[in-house]
Amino acid sequence: MKVWFIGAGPGDPELMTRKAWRMLSAADVVLHDALMNIEGMQKAAPNAQWLEVGKRSGRPSVEQAFICRTLVTLAKRGLTVVRLKGGDPSIFGRLAEELQACRTENIEVEIIPGVTAACAAAAELQTSLTLRGESRSVVFVTPRLGKHEANTHSEWLAAAMAAQTAVLYMAGAQAKDICHALIEAGKPKQTPICIVENASRVGARLKLTLFQVAQQGLPKLEGPVTLLVGQALSLALVQQTPLTDDFAERMPVPPSQHAVA
Ligand SMILES: C[S@@+](CC[C@H](N)C(=O)[O-])C[C@H]1O[C@@H](n2cnc3c(N)ncnc32)[C@H](O)[C@@H]1O
Repeated sequence: MKVWFIGAGPGDPELMTRKAWRMLSAADVVLHDALMNIEGMQKAAPNAQWLEVGKRSGRPSVEQAFICRTLVTLAKRGLTVVRLKGGDPSIFGRLAEELQACRTENIEVEIIPGVTAACAAAAELQTSLTLRGESRSVVFVTPRLGKHEANTHSEWLAAAMAAQTAVLYMAGAQAKDICHALIEAGKPKQTPICIVENASRVGARLKLTLFQVAQQGLPKLEGPVTLLVGQALSLALVQQTPLTDDFAERMPVPPSQHAVA
């Protein structure tokens, strides 16, 4: 009995590792997150059963306890079970609960890492998250609180202030408040902030200052959004790479079809 936890990366199937692709190809059943290029990834295992168990902000979601139970039940039936998670499974992915459910039932697990949104976003921006002599630390942080967590933003703020580069996950909808809080806490107003929607696929890429976002907020963005804050982002280039969602036929997209730049 074994469950494979596989990092699907930010959406482009070509960013999955060869091992991830190989193990996905061997799956009988795939429990997968929402918000990925599922059609592209299904090419690895067209005959497997694909079950979406994604959680979407503000929309009805599958309960975590149900996901844990289903993993265990399917593995005990002797099926090759893949739990396909967006980005890297170990970053804001509820991996711990699922691992624990497997361990409690003596089900072996293996984890295949993936490209996390922070790295995919930095690649889109053609920049580095660290800068020799200037940015020695990077923090991955989220202001999103779990159901039973106290309603305070002191923890994420302290973490974001302590690092020279802060990458904020699940933070797009609160960007304005976040920039206010960072300025209030002492970050210079002119600190660069980049916004990357749908890294590795078509989406918005913006380069602004904390002050600009604190004043104006962001346009409404549909896809997953990552915010990157810090001086290292001064080197970011905001441009649209020709990308399509089709793994097999990678045709350049005319600039007119690109979203906000
Ligand atoms: C529940 S977390 C999962 C993170 C994932 N495990 C990872 O390593 O990227 C979801 C958040 O990741 C970020 N994210 C995931 N995919 C993204 C993408 N393709 N582009 C930009 N941000 C992304 C967004 O901040 C989104 O709200």
